[in-house]
Amino acid sequence: MSPIVQRPDLGGPFPEHIAIIMDGNGRWATERGMPRVFGHREGVRSVREVTTECARMGVKSLTLYAFSEENWKRPGQEVTYLMRLLRVFMRRERKTLMDNDVRLRCIGRLDRLPAASLGALRETEALTADNDGMLLRLALSYGSRAEIADAARCMAEEARAGTLDPASIDEETLRAYLYDPTTPDPDLVIRTAGEMRVSNFLLWQLSYAEFYVTPSCWPEFRRDQLLGAMKEFASRRRKFGGLEEGDVAAASTESIEETT
Ligand code: IPE
Ligand code: IPE
Ligand code: MG
Repeated sequence: MSPIVQRPDLGGPFPEHIAIIMDGNGRWATERGMPRVFGHREGVRSVREVTTECARMGVKSLTLYAFSEENWKRPGQEVTYLMRLLRVFMRRERKTLMDNDVRLRCIGRLDRLPAASLGALRETEALTADNDGMLLRLALSYGSRAEIADAARCMAEEARAGTLDPASIDEETLRAYLYDPTTPDPDLVIRTAGEMRVSNFLLWQLSYAEFYVTPSCWPEFRRDQLLGAMKEFASRRRKFGGLEEGDVAAASTESIEETT
């Protein structure tokens, strides 16, 4: 059964695709005198709430940065815990995803994931494949430079095989070789825990996304903070390098005397 989708009035444009750098789990736990992994466990609650709320608000795509290509450098125990959490999440959240008509897709170098986690993930992707509500993309073992390098390698191989003309390569050609070329670029990217950096996330796709950084750590990021970010987005003026109507008249050079 499809859930009732009700778009909130944000007083401006609605972000059709939201991407989130879910950061600060470790800090959140450490501040409470708990081991870092406690923060990861608590962060799953935010994933559930934000996913459900986005689906109910009619967001078309939600991309969550869950584990970066660089996160493999962390201590083995933390990585093992995260991979187990991923496996459990994939099984336990199936009902929530189905109830909310959410389709799951994962992006990243997934072949690096442990077999059990990858298996659970593929099963959930298959189970939800026909849902036509929100698309939930989980970025796992994801690095944007790796994604672009993988695309470049594929293009080079096709050029060598004679199936791709190098002279024809433009932005749209390159996009077609990225992990998930059919999903439109994010409109809004949210980062929790206050860091002002992209940490190798969707470098190509975020070219014109609006940034929103909150000091709240991911385990405390829930419905109210999400709505706050969406309202802030609605108030932004996106220009994509051009000018807004009101500024076009002011761009006239007619009344300017030569000064040089
Ligand atoms: C984000 O929280 C989760 C992952 C990167 C897997 P962190 O684990 O980075 O938490 P902090 O940034 O150390 O507080
Ligand atoms: C970014 O967080 C990756 C994810 C949220 C999965 P990190 O904690 O890995 O980023 P840095 O190390 O602070 O840049
Ligand atoms: Mg971090």
